[in-house]
Parts: sequence; structure tokens; C-alpha cells
Amino acid sequence: MHVILLGPPGAGKGTQAALVCEECKLIHLSTGDLLRAAVSAGTELGLEARSYMDRGELVPDSLVLALLRERFEAAGDDTGFLLDGFPRNVNQARALEEQLGEATIDHVVYLQLEDEEILRRLLGRGRPDDTQAVIRNRLEVYRAETEPLAAWYRVRDLLREVDALGTIEDVRQRVNRGLGRGSGATAEAGKKE
Ligand code: AP5
Repeated sequence: MHVILLGPPGAGKGTQAALVCEECKLIHLSTGDLLRAAVSAGTELGLEARSYMDRGELVPDSLVLALLRERFEAAGDDTGFLLDGFPRNVNQARALEEQLGEATIDHVVYLQLEDEEILRRLLGRGRPDDTQAVIRNRLEVYRAETEPLAAWYRVRDLLREVDALGTIEDVRQRVNRGLGRGSGATAEAGKKE
């Protein structure tokens, strides 16, 4: 199974990704985590990416795509994966289609959450890019660059809209239904969970 988790910062992509990957035995590919690891390791790519991340801007596509390509090659063709935080714009979505070739995306789970709750969650977490000003910028970048991908995947009949408000367990059950798993499962395109 090949899954994309789409949604604003703080919607719970990383949290739900870990649960789905554990349950479905998928590889969790988080570009945010990969970039933070490169920053911590002090690699050339990490040094370049850092200033963008600190400001809440998207890291240039060339860097992100290079990082992800390495991971795809290491994983091989037959492995199921979940992409968390990628693609982030239409250019990345096109690059993903080219990279996958015959392999298709099965589901795009679109976590939706209001800004007020996003701010509450992220200010409570305290990652270096979780300051009020940087969160505001991440949200603006999200609306401008990433949110249009919902329409991109809706026309491809892949979008599963999920309400991300509620407990982690509530959201987990909705995500599972969106993936066509669990009781009352529905994988209908565009169906709101
Ligand atoms: P990235 O790491 O992808 O961050 P993000 O999209 O801003 O998302 P977050 O990690 O903040 O939130 P999340 O939705 O994963 O929520 P989480 O589960 O953590 O990207 C960071 C930066 O890297 C970007 O700004 C950019 O610079 C760069 N980058 C990354 N990918 C890129 C790409 N493809 N192209 C270019 N640049 C890229 O949850 C958040 C908090 O809420 C946690 O504390 C969690 O415990 C809590 N929580 C989760 N679920 C619930 C719940 N149901 N109820 C209450 N609390 C909850």
C-alpha cells in the first residue's frame, strides 16, 4: 500500500503516520524528519535546509527530492510506504508521479484542522519552528503551496478527507476508515470521515 498524509502543520500527520505504519507495516517517510536528521548531522544539505526550516519556508524542491530519492532507492520497489509531509507543492507531486512509474498511490489521507487548534497543539509542543510567528508563516505557506494538492488528488479520486479534531484514538479510527480498514470502513473518494 502506498499512502500520502496531507494536512496543515500540527494536524497530527506524524502522530497518525506512526500508528498507520505500525499497524500496516509500512515504511514511514517523513521529509520533515529526514531534513531535521540532516540538520542534526550537519550535512551540507542540512546546513542549506536549516534557514528555510527556521523561517517556516519550504526547503527548495531540489534538496527535498534528492533526499527522498535516496530513501526510495534504499527501500526498493516492493515496499509499502507512507509519505508524511511530502509532496508539499504541485512540482513535488509531479516528481513523485515520475519517481513511482507504474506503482500507484492508493490513498491520500487529508487531515483537516482549524488554525486555533493547530496553534494550541504546536505551541504546546515547542519544536524550534513552533514559535507563534513561524507557525503563522508555515500556515501561510501551507495555504499557498500545499493546500492546492487536495484538488490535485481529488480529481484523481484518491482523496480521503478526515476530521483531525478529537483524541488521537478518534482520529486513528477515522484514518483507518479512510484507508478502507476497520469496521464501517469506507475508501470512497472524497468521503468525509
Ligand atoms: P514537517 O516536519 O513536515 O512539519 P509540519 O508539516 O509543519 O508538521 P508538524 O510536524 O508540525 O505537524 P504534524 O501534522 O506532523 O503533527 P504532529 O503529529 O507532529 O516540516 C517542517 C519543515 O521542514 C517545513 O516547515 C519545511 O521547512 C521543511 N519541509 C518538510 N517537508 C518538506 C517538503 N516536502 N518540501 C519542502 N520543505 C519541507 O502533532 C503536532 C502536535 O500535536 C504534537 O505535539 C502531537 O503530540 C499533538 N497531537 C497530535 N494529534 C493530536 C490530537 N488528536 N489531539 C491533541 N494533540 C495531538
